[in-house]
Amino acid sequence: MNESAAATVVGYVAESLATYGRDPRHLLQHLIRIQSRFSFVPDAAVEALAEALGVTRTQVRAAIAFYAFLHARPRGAFEIRFSDNITDRMLGNQRLLRLLASRLRLDGLPGWGHDLIRADGRVSIGLASCTGMCDQGPALLVNGQAVTNLDAGRIDRIADLVEEGVALAHWPGELFRVSSNIRRRGLLLSNAATDGAALRRLLDDGAQAALAEVERSGLRGRGGAGFTTALKWRFCREAPGTERYVVCNADEGEPGTFKDRVLLTDYADLVCEGMTVCAGVIGARRGFIYLRGEYRYLLPHLEAVLSRRRGDGLLGRAILGREGFDFDIEIHLGAGAYICGEESALIESLEGKRGVTRKRPPFPVTSGFDDQPTVVNNVETFLAAARVVQWGGYWLRGEGTDQSAGSKILSVSGDCARPGIYEYPFGTPIHQVLTDCGAESVQAVQISGAAGRTLAPADFDRIIAFEDLPTAGSFMVFGQNRDLLDMVRNFAAFFAHESCGFCTPCRVGGALLRNLVEKVAAGQGSEYDLTEMRHIGAVMRRASYCGLGHTAPNHVLDTLDKVPEIYRRRLASQTHTPSFDLDAALSEARALTGRTDSGATLHETMEAMT
Ligand SMILES: Cc1cc2nc3c(=O)[nH]c(=O)nc-3n(C[C@H](O)[C@H](O)[C@H](O)COP(=O)(O)O)c2cc1C
Ligand code: SF4
Repeated sequence: MNESAAATVVGYVAESLATYGRDPRHLLQHLIRIQSRFSFVPDAAVEALAEALGVTRTQVRAAIAFYAFLHARPRGAFEIRFSDNITDRMLGNQRLLRLLASRLRLDGLPGWGHDLIRADGRVSIGLASCTGMCDQGPALLVNGQAVTNLDAGRIDRIADLVEEGVALAHWPGELFRVSSNIRRRGLLLSNAATDGAALRRLLDDGAQAALAEVERSGLRGRGGAGFTTALKWRFCREAPGTERYVVCNADEGEPGTFKDRVLLTDYADLVCEGMTVCAGVIGARRGFIYLRGEYRYLLPHLEAVLSRRRGDGLLGRAILGREGFDFDIEIHLGAGAYICGEESALIESLEGKRGVTRKRPPFPVTSGFDDQPTVVNNVETFLAAARVVQWGGYWLRGEGTDQSAGSKILSVSGDCARPGIYEYPFGTPIHQVLTDCGAESVQAVQISGAAGRTLAPADFDRIIAFEDLPTAGSFMVFGQNRDLLDMVRNFAAFFAHESCGFCTPCRVGGALLRNLVEKVAAGQGSEYDLTEMRHIGAVMRRASYCGLGHTAPNHVLDTLDKVPEIYRRRLASQTHTPSFDLDAALSEARALTGRTDSGATLHETMEAMT
């Protein structure tokens, strides 16, 4: 980089510092900004940021290396990332990927961590884990903006726009249209209106009374783990600390989940209201929405909602005129790391660092953001909490089961006529969802994402509920014509890619599982490999450091139990078959040394022994 280019970079960093300030916790936000301006983070920016924020260059470089959407080397001026969830694959994303690569004169196909970059720097193509558009895939991101419903025609248009060098701001808006596809509304979705009623109730009745309503409702977290919301809020309220924080987890990285995207699009006011109610209960003055990088296109909309709420006296200083009730919300973007959905990794990321999970305890309720008491809740949980405080705990209790009060919002995708968002009372059986979404001749359902469980038809009478099938919301349908091993391969590659690498069972186990799955898929596996997969999966479940590693082998272990034929029909033999051909690898050495005798090859030696 020449001197004037470096000066441009340093000038841009100065602008970024003027916007976001010099708090080292804003490092990631600076990096995202710089990445979008230059298509990478130049060394000059690393140096300038390290100096201005008082961190080491190594810390800055480590953050760049950690997040999939940040790069130390230039990408194309148009950076394209194909969503590569199994549902994108089922809708033909591989064919469209090849088509775009050939239209843009790029050789080969991208892989995880391997982008195709055109020599003239005009364009690059890479992969992204699920972009949260499974109801309207295949999808891609171009410079962070989502393009959905891809087909050959849209790929042609994208290729033309790239070749003509049309700036993204001038691309037809229709390309970037994202639909909400709400198909079934229940308790939460039947009414989006909010005018601060929950906040008025909070101010009229007091924080204790609001917390009592949340307690009475039995509300449990909708992000997957199902922790009791009132308990979380109470722990945080009672924990010692100088400040308290509210964090809305909008990372939504679980493959097949997209309901938070829709909630933030159509119900953002209610989500903010839930966060503000929580702030009133726990005594927080500052909150964050941690928005996944893939949903960056929602940023202007969310900023507008926040700004309107400030204008209406529902956010900011003296909310609804109550002196001392001050609370505001900032939006922090993620940068393509699934692990950042895990609450402690999310907090690390909010603090500008690599999203590596923290040792727990202490839990965020006592030691979260800035080591202060912090509530982290899912988007849907805040939405439900706002209504509970407004309408009372019994309102939520009116639906669902004893242990699972209220409703659950599902993201339905895959082999069905009507993919989209469905809200059901807890207790709804799987077959009901399948009927409603127009799924026929179903082989399997993957519930709660890649980390969730694989359900065979024998499970379709089971119910969606914490006591039977808990789910964060992803519901992927696989018809009879699908090869479920494609799903397993996709998820195994996903987990191997997304492991943060901190602990051995997940880092090594995930890679070994992926390799074994690929070996079986290539027709080189044996019964021994299936046993190995079970062993590795069991170790990952037991010994991994965080939830990612605990759940990463679920899909392999479930399919081995429920649909073993997807593996067995590909087995090369019932005994051990090595995945590595030693004789082929040593052929050059044999030629160099002139060894042609039977003792120089493994297979002839083995033959001689039998
Ligand atoms: C690997 C991993 C990814 C996660 N991703 C998310 C996510 O995208 N959104 C979410 O709300 N919770 C996610 N969670 C769960 C959070 O750690 C946390 O339990 C949740 O945000 C708490 O909110 P809730 O009580 O409202 O469910 C994830 C957990 C793990 C282990
Ligand atoms: S299980 Fe270990 S390697 Fe995997 S994401 Fe968690 S901390 Fe990282």
